[in-house]
Amino acid sequence: MKKYFLLIIMTLVVAATSTLQIGCTASQKLNEKTGVQLWGENCGRCHNAPGRGEFRSDNWYVIGQHMRARANLTGKDTDKILAFLKGL
Ligand code: HEC
Repeated sequence: MKKYFLLIIMTLVVAATSTLQIGCTASQKLNEKTGVQLWGENCGRCHNAPGRGEFRSDNWYVIGQHMRARANLTGKDTDKILAFLKGL
C-alpha cells in the first residue's frame, strides 16, 4: 500500500512540474513583442514617431542609446524599435 501511495505522489509531482514548464514556455513566446508594439508601449507615451526621412541612417544609433535610457529598455528591444522606425 505504501508503495502505491509513493507512486501516486511521484506521478502527481511529475505532472505538476511538466504543466508548469509548458505554461512558462507559452508565456515566454507571448512576451516576444514586435518593434511596433514596443514603440507603442514605450516611446509613444512621450512623443509621436519621427517622420519618414527625418533622420539620416547614421543618426539612429545615437538616438537609440539616448531614448533607450529614457524608456529604460533592453538592447534587444531597442534594436527592434529602431528596425521598425528605419522601415517607416
Ligand atoms: C520619458 C519620455 C521619453 C521616452 C520614453 C522616449 N522619448 Fe524620445 N524624446 C523625448 C524627449 C523629451 C526628446 C527631445 C530631446 C531630448 O530632450 O532628449 C526626445 C527626442 C527623440 C528623438 C529626436 C532625436 C533625439 O535624440 O533627440 C527621437 C527620434 C526619439 N526621441 C525617439 C524615441 C524612441 C525610439 C523611444 C523609445 C525607445 C523614445 N524616443 C522614448 C522623450 C522620450
